[in-house]
Amino acid sequence: MKKMLVCVSFIAFQYAVAQSPVYTGIVPAPASLEVAEGVFVLSKTTPVFSDPAFTEAAELYVQSSSLAEPKTYRARSTASTTKGIYFLKQAGNNKEAYRLLVSPSVVQIIASGKSGAIHGMETLLQLQLLQPDRKTLPCLKIADTPAFAYRGLMLDVSRHFYSAGTVEKIIDMMALYKLNMLHLHLTDAAGWRIEIKQYPGLTHTAAWRTEQNWKDWWNGNRHYATEGAPGAYGGYYTQEEAKQLVKYAAERNINIIPEIEMPGHSEEVMAVFPQLACSGKPYTQGELCLGNDSTFIVFQNILLEIMNIFPSSYIHIGGDEAGKAAWKKCPKCQARIRAEHLADEHELQSYGIRRMEKFLSAHGRHLLGWDEILEGGLAPGATVMSWRGESGGIKAAKAGHDVIMSPGGYCYFDAYQANPITQPEAIGGFLPLSKVYSYNPVPGALNHSEAKHILGVQANVWAEYIPTSEHLEYMIFPRLLALAETGWTKNENKSWKSFEDRLQQQYLLLQRRNINYYRPVADLEIKAIADTDQHSSLVRIISEQYNPDIRYTTDGSTPATGSARYTAPFYVKDTATVKAALVLPQHDKTGPVASLTTSYHKAVGAKVVYNQPYSRSYPAQKEYTLVNGEKGSFSYGDGQWQGFDSGDMDVTIELKTLSEINNISVSFMQLTGPGVFMPGYVEFSWSADGKTFSKPVSVSNSVPSTISTLVIKPFAAAIGAKAKYIRVFARNDKKGFLFADEIMVF
Ligand code: ACM
Repeated sequence: MKKMLVCVSFIAFQYAVAQSPVYTGIVPAPASLEVAEGVFVLSKTTPVFSDPAFTEAAELYVQSSSLAEPKTYRARSTASTTKGIYFLKQAGNNKEAYRLLVSPSVVQIIASGKSGAIHGMETLLQLQLLQPDRKTLPCLKIADTPAFAYRGLMLDVSRHFYSAGTVEKIIDMMALYKLNMLHLHLTDAAGWRIEIKQYPGLTHTAAWRTEQNWKDWWNGNRHYATEGAPGAYGGYYTQEEAKQLVKYAAERNINIIPEIEMPGHSEEVMAVFPQLACSGKPYTQGELCLGNDSTFIVFQNILLEIMNIFPSSYIHIGGDEAGKAAWKKCPKCQARIRAEHLADEHELQSYGIRRMEKFLSAHGRHLLGWDEILEGGLAPGATVMSWRGESGGIKAAKAGHDVIMSPGGYCYFDAYQANPITQPEAIGGFLPLSKVYSYNPVPGALNHSEAKHILGVQANVWAEYIPTSEHLEYMIFPRLLALAETGWTKNENKSWKSFEDRLQQQYLLLQRRNINYYRPVADLEIKAIADTDQHSSLVRIISEQYNPDIRYTTDGSTPATGSARYTAPFYVKDTATVKAALVLPQHDKTGPVASLTTSYHKAVGAKVVYNQPYSRSYPAQKEYTLVNGEKGSFSYGDGQWQGFDSGDMDVTIELKTLSEINNISVSFMQLTGPGVFMPGYVEFSWSADGKTFSKPVSVSNSVPSTISTLVIKPFAAAIGAKAKYIRVFARNDKKGFLFADEIMVF
């Protein structure tokens, strides 16, 4: 044994020289971690002892750690000096807290509750998976407890169905990162995914659609097939399978929250029960008729079976994105509005949610719903999941309701992780790992007592574009690690630098667990921000690589391994083309070249008059957006792209002085899925006095609207005149959204 220890510490020393001496890159970061001298060496005969209260955690450890032998644990409730792994119970109120002590002779997991014992066990498993030699653990002391009680992940099993085995693999990973809530979006137009014994048609028909590809199906006839038909695509969990999943998750300290969506996103229900549509016909609307009592009777019967499968205190009823058009024309809905003295269709939706809340409450459960459940008045015991930004969550918390934060800009894992041209098609948006990590679920707008209503945070994986389990893993990892740390580690203890360091160790774990994670790309992002004090652009070059060797030029030439090395942000005057590339490790060559023409142009900081208003939903930086010297990224939601919905874009820029104008350029985005199109043409005209304008110079669009992938394209014109006023008009001939980021004047 002694010889082995010497040998092990020699290995550790070797690593100390090569990289880091010990591998303690636990995610999420524990509240405190002290590394001590020495190692604990696991062997085939290392015994596992457990207090009888923690039998399940000990058994799970024995099952999950391929190294612990014998494959059984022994009951024992006190510590001892016999070499082994001990699960020990100690009195305490915080059931999620745990301590993990690793010394050369014993490993102790000490907790007061089962969940703490499981967390300690998962930390121990992580520690093993992080070591190049899994049998040799560094000595340390961890004392740990979560920042938030709710740490969740939502899987959309409706748009694409994932097998119970796939869900179990995700549950294993959630447990490893101490997430404790798995929200299953079980029902939506694209398929009903849970057996309901009273209504077999829901799974006989509504669980199957005519096309595998969601986009083709959605843009096509949106019809359902029947189970067993040759082309039927879909699936569902039997009640037995769902109960097994609930048990599997509970053993890993994870609660499964079922979502049975209503009143919107319910096309599949009305395909089976057309009488629940205002029209009485299938395939006519997405929202259920709330004037019809049968809607409530059917959903309450469904929820009785759901509550029998899922012991979760929270039952999610959806509540999002219900259209109101059918209700406006429906005699039954209008009669309900009159009978219940409701003001409008928003209050009708609220009536429906309140009725479901009463029902769930009477059965001892809590209603959870998307933030639309606030509209028309929130049901008394409801908990709100804030997804349209944080405003719904803030409003609910101020009104004394509990809140789960899941804002689209930080928590939607269906968004792109890198430049869309390098990625499989996604729904849109741009959510790199660093942005997930940057999120703090407690908004500054809340005072101390309101902030207590923020129970935690959740990532949502909407699956329209995610047909396989491999692709699902790709969208979830490693972003889930960042989310897990946001949920577990106190905000003041979070550090991106530390997370990045630990992530380098976590790649080994992800590989050992056979996870198809997103690999950090070699592509670089160049950002320039106008600095009006310096009259220059401040350029930052962003890489996902660890300690990257970035080379750049500012004269338009292609960067090579001998070009200037980027070490910190730098200023560029006027305009310059910055090009940057990564020196690829182990190759003496550079990766893909990123290029940005910096834009400290003549209109930075100018006054912008809107002849037609910008979209209230996408104001970006309001009047400053188009002249703030900052270009947008790949997402129209990034705060740099300003939207114009249905109308044209029509603005007049007033420069500080009469200036020589050589050329003008403005970029637009096209992403047809959410209805974002190029303008038909862009016109530029100019004036010295703001009254008499030149004849417009028109630039027509050359991007076909049939291109459904992201396109960003500048519309530019040479001017060659003196002007103080510049009018830019962009024709919104598709009547969708126009998005522009910057009007550059040189
Ligand atoms: C949602 O993304 N519609 C909740």
